Amino acid sequence: MSNRFPQVATFSFAAVCFCVPVGPVRAADNAPPAQSIFHADPEHLWNRLHEALFVRLGPDGQAYGHDRLDPLLWSRTRHLLKADDRSRDQAVALLEEFINGKGEKMVEDPLKRAVLQRDLWLVFNWLDKNHGPFHDPELTEEIWQAAQQRLRGPLAAVIGRLALTPDQIKGLPDNYAAAVASGEFARRYDSEQPDKPYMPPDLFATDGPWVCVGRPDGPVTPQHLREDRGSQFTNSAFLVFLRLPAGRAATLDFLKQLRAFDQPLVVKPEQSAKGSKEFVPNPKLPQLPVGTETALARRALLINSSHAPVPSAITESVQIRVYREVPDVTAQTIEAALLEQSPYEFRMSRALLFAGRAGGLRAVGSERDFKTGFGSYAWDAFEIRDSNRRVFWQTMQQPNRQSCFDCHSLPGIKSFNTFHDFDRNRGRSPASLAEASLSQALESAVKWKEGRPAWTSLRKLLAE
Ligand code: HEC
Repeated sequence: MSNRFPQVATFSFAAVCFCVPVGPVRAADNAPPAQSIFHADPEHLWNRLHEALFVRLGPDGQAYGHDRLDPLLWSRTRHLLKADDRSRDQAVALLEEFINGKGEKMVEDPLKRAVLQRDLWLVFNWLDKNHGPFHDPELTEEIWQAAQQRLRGPLAAVIGRLALTPDQIKGLPDNYAAAVASGEFARRYDSEQPDKPYMPPDLFATDGPWVCVGRPDGPVTPQHLREDRGSQFTNSAFLVFLRLPAGRAATLDFLKQLRAFDQPLVVKPEQSAKGSKEFVPNPKLPQLPVGTETALARRALLINSSHAPVPSAITESVQIRVYREVPDVTAQTIEAALLEQSPYEFRMSRALLFAGRAGGLRAVGSERDFKTGFGSYAWDAFEIRDSNRRVFWQTMQQPNRQSCFDCHSLPGIKSFNTFHDFDRNRGRSPASLAEASLSQALESAVKWKEGRPAWTSLRKLLAE
């Protein structure tokens, strides 16, 4: 099988192309000033606290990350962990100001409380991991552990202070529904305008055309949850949906056929030609028809006032792919079968969300951004330098939309990675996929989270 694509969350520079032209990361259009995200006053404690943990200064003197979904933190980040790190000291001081000044009472809006809690919990999840060893002789285990220890307590305390009651969490607005209702996005895929983002109104509808997919042995997106491979931003429920053009019954029947498939997943190609592959996905696999749509929705988990992780109605992002063509896969066509899918992505912007615009979801296009969390490189884009001491910060920003094909380029079912990741997971068995209710899928995400070491450590601190 081909090894064309970078490994998921590869820890080598092979994942990074250094030859792309650079451009700025575009902010959400017409959004209010980023520094005033939680309050109109940029100097408000909530704005300062968020900024201290989410914003990084680039070598160009510009600030990055104000309204980014995830913080700019990587597996190998030294920021916040170094001895005498001013950002850490500032973050600790702000967290203490929050605790001593009852910061949780400064903003009433439950949605803002939920979002700030989610943001701080993401930082906690990153902080709590085993960071070492660093090549930097000045960043010894003792030093980074002391830094971790310094931040952990105040961070957990503020996360706890921001907790909403179960009823308040249930009452949070469904921002995906608001985005659909805003009329800002097309509602259907238009094959005449494949670049136009669309947002299906019935994605989460029970018994609608989109089937929520689950698996019996745990969450349906194990790769997105590989914390050992750099996926640190896992305080979310990742939900997979599939929609065949012939409707719900046809989609359910397709999943049944997949479950019943008992032949080898990969076979030797019938004709071997120069440059052909040794193995290809078995052509007898049930194939997705042209026009199939699939979606991956990310919903925030929150920590409620009883200190339990719970699902929420906050949609953080939605990725969609539509199969415009489904060519046969052969040893010869495998490399040529690119770009037969249309990819789309929507991401939450706090500024838009709090301004009540389009449910806070914005369509992500080809603008460049750093990769963090799932599928990212390990090094900190603001710290890593080449032998000439040049910071890689600029070249590490990749065009968002095109990046989907790093991992989803094979035709039809062969790039439906929820079933089997042919490029990276050849040795593994395929997933046994079946319909799940939305609540089952959300519950499975919560159960998984409850078993994580970072959650155990946070829960202990919350109980103190
Ligand atoms: C680094 C690899 C990688 C990249 C880049 C990536 N994905 Fe995925 N995607 C996966 C994997 C692996 C899964 C399977 C779920 C799991 O195990 O986490 C998946 C699942 C999905 C699903 C659910 C259906 C399926 O195919 O399994 C959708 C929809 C999806 N991705 C869309 C996108 C879009 C749109 C983009 C680009 C904006 C994208 N993905 C970028 C690896 C990737």
